[in-house]
Amino acid sequence: MSATARGATARKTVAELNLILLGPPGAGKGTQAERLQEDFHLPYVATGDILREAVREEAELGRKAKRYMDAGDLVPDDLIIAVVLERIGADEARDGFLLDGFPRNREQGEALDGAIDRLGRRLTAALLIEVPDDEVVRRLSGRRVSVKSGRVYHVELDPPKHEGRCDIDGSRLVQRDDDRPETVRHRLQVYHENTKPLIDYYERQGVLRRFNGARSPTEVHDHIRATIATLRLEDEL
Ligand code: AP5
Repeated sequence: MSATARGATARKTVAELNLILLGPPGAGKGTQAERLQEDFHLPYVATGDILREAVREEAELGRKAKRYMDAGDLVPDDLIIAVVLERIGADEARDGFLLDGFPRNREQGEALDGAIDRLGRRLTAALLIEVPDDEVVRRLSGRRVSVKSGRVYHVELDPPKHEGRCDIDGSRLVQRDDDRPETVRHRLQVYHENTKPLIDYYERQGVLRRFNGARSPTEVHDHIRATIATLRLEDEL
């Protein structure tokens, strides 16, 4: 390899950010992802958004996924893994990616690791936003989402300027079907059962970083940004 090519590879490794957002439903993964996209301009892959869009468009993926999503269960791995791996292998993700909602269990984590390995890359960090179950129920019962922009609000904690209308484009704000209290409790149970082994897996790899999601969105964001800056510095040393 020429010195120029070596330099380019070294620069790419330092600049590359391959990030995962982990946490229970309502932890604020989507809220933080919006800010992190602005900071780092990374392609954002949110499996919940991809699946909801597929349901709206009545695509095959959506038709197969809907009943699991309505019940608050995970959709089968074979429906979702290929979708994500295709996105992270795409040209636009060559300098990194931000995953939200994937992986969600150990099998998905191993599939992701295999794909990253094949691309000759490595995971920068798994960012775990921790929030107690009671707070999750409070947040999701008040969550409202813009039908057009997808911007997330909370009726008390982060209200829009005009009730029921998105600040960005004035579109209608709606409640997600799976934010009903009984479904939220089931989603929490599914999270604890499936994602705990994945958290342990990342902890053992030394890539897990924990954040107190009970703090304000700005405090959580500041902490995540500072952590990523430190990881980048460590990478350069
Ligand atoms: P998905 O859409 O991924 O849902 P989730 O993981 O349950 O996460 P949420 O979107 O509910 O919460 P969030 O953490 O993004 O919180 P948010 O920022 O909105 O998945 C939905 C379904 O799709 C799953 O149940 C499953 O069926 C299927 N699925 C998806 N991925 C899958 C996969 N990989 N495998 C299998 N199935 C899959 O914030 C929540 C609220 O709190 C908002 O109102 C917000 O304003 C407020 N808020 C945020 N941060 C704060 C804060 N710091 N303080 C106070 N309020 C805050």
